[in-house]
Amino acid sequence: MPSSKSVTFILIFINAVALVTSKSTIEPCTNSDSCNALLAYTLYTDLKVSEVASLFQIDPIALLTTNAIDISYPDVENHILPSQLFLKIPITCSCVDGIRKSVSTHYKTRPSDTLSSIADSIYAGLVSADQIKEANSIDDPSVLDVGQSLVVPLPCTCFNGTDNSLPAIYLSYVVKEVDTLAAIAARYETTLTDLMNVNAMGSAAIKAGDILAVPLPACASKFPRYASDFGLIVPNGSYAISASHCVQCSCGPGNLNLYCMPASLAVSCSSMQCRNSNLMLGNVTVQQSSAGCNVTSCNYGGYVNGTIMTTLSTYLQPRCPGSQQFPPLVVPPTTVIRDSTFAPAPAPQSDGSSTPTPTPKTEVVPATGSLPGLPPASGPVGSISLSFSVNPSATLMIAAVLLLFAMTSIPL
Ligand SMILES: *[C@@H]1O[C@H](CO)[C@@H](O)[C@H](O)[C@H]1NC(C)=O
Ligand SMILES: *[C@@H]1O[C@H](CO)[C@@H](O)[C@H](O)[C@H]1NC(C)=O
Ligand SMILES: *[C@@H]1O[C@H](CO)[C@@H](O)[C@H](O)[C@H]1NC(C)=O
Ligand SMILES: *[C@@H]1O[C@H](CO)[C@@H](O)[C@H](O)[C@H]1NC(C)=O
Ligand SMILES: *[C@@H]1O[C@H](CO)[C@@H](O)[C@H](O)[C@H]1NC(C)=O
Repeated sequence: MPSSKSVTFILIFINAVALVTSKSTIEPCTNSDSCNALLAYTLYTDLKVSEVASLFQIDPIALLTTNAIDISYPDVENHILPSQLFLKIPITCSCVDGIRKSVSTHYKTRPSDTLSSIADSIYAGLVSADQIKEANSIDDPSVLDVGQSLVVPLPCTCFNGTDNSLPAIYLSYVVKEVDTLAAIAARYETTLTDLMNVNAMGSAAIKAGDILAVPLPACASKFPRYASDFGLIVPNGSYAISASHCVQCSCGPGNLNLYCMPASLAVSCSSMQCRNSNLMLGNVTVQQSSAGCNVTSCNYGGYVNGTIMTTLSTYLQPRCPGSQQFPPLVVPPTTVIRDSTFAPAPAPQSDGSSTPTPTPKTEVVPATGSLPGLPPASGPVGSISLSFSVNPSATLMIAAVLLLFAMTSIPL
């Protein structure tokens, strides 16, 4: 297929009318598949875990696991998170009018809300007042009915779940006054070049309010398309919860192979035992032989019609794997560390008894090398990314231009 060449168009859009507007990276899309992404969000006030989750209409447990916060902490959903805390918000992107977007978030207006306060403060600049106005066909933004439900369109990019052919999940990041592109690249362990390529930037110049797509290394899944958690992708150093809270998957720190096991939450779950074996999800047995190490593992294969799919795999590898390593969990934060743009520093659990992921016994060790859900060896992302002015009319024009590009690039 000749389409393996990555094509990047850089369009410089000059908006003669608006003064200075922010840039945002958008991804054209052609099909109706949804995909997973993250938002970099800074809390505007003290809020309970459940309140932050409802602001984005996401599962509170998913919010916690994405941020590697210990879900076994007592009454964790009612824990109050401090103002200015930095959080990663897991969201689902859809394809709307040829552009990847998250459109599942609704906000119920309260007295004294304005479109600007909702956009700039509550949603921390991830959306503009104009975008909310446009998405809800609001004629007069000065009259907002209290209790009105507003669609809050949020930035979302997936770029096929890869960056330089390695699995990646994209974080939409709102540039702050103090940021430089080099500092953002360093903070997220990527390179300046990579950030510029992903965001189709001609120069490293950024300004406050711009929204960048930041690729984070991740563990990809290989569940079948008909699984309800198809496309599950977990950033390095964190967890995901799936299968109606029955299965917990982790990524890192030693490798980028997705590792799934029964979750520690008390819920009734379908069988998690691999067929024709006594192994449970996440169990790995190893047997040293003259030929090498015979590894048998029971792996998660996705959630299908309320059933937890498992697959048993056996393979030989030169050396036996060590025990499964887990990303460190943090207790729910109560204070914000000096640089609030950093995620809470992983700190070992002080109370060992609350660690929900005990190290397996010595003779049963999860493989570290060859579990299914290996990073797919995929080609480069064939996507177009461009910068544009966030101005309602400009957005429409850009969408039209993009559609043209998308259409003309199909026969390539
Ligand atoms: C994953 O995170 C760990 C520490 O959290 C780091 O040591 C490792 O290099 C990361 N892996 C990748 C591929 O970025
Ligand atoms: C298999 O996995 C289950 C669930 O994680 C765990 O409780 C059990 O101890 C494991 N079995 C063995 C033999 O390690
Ligand atoms: C590896 O172990 C499995 C199950 O324990 C066994 O069925 C298989 O024959 C073994 N293969 C080798 C090459 O030893
Ligand atoms: C899921 O269930 C529906 C109806 O119960 C059935 O039509 C469908 O084939 C099932 N899907 C799979 C993958 O088993
Ligand atoms: C997207 O990734 C899949 C594997 O995850 C790969 O097969 C496919 O070719 C990629 N598509 C593009 C356009 O890069």
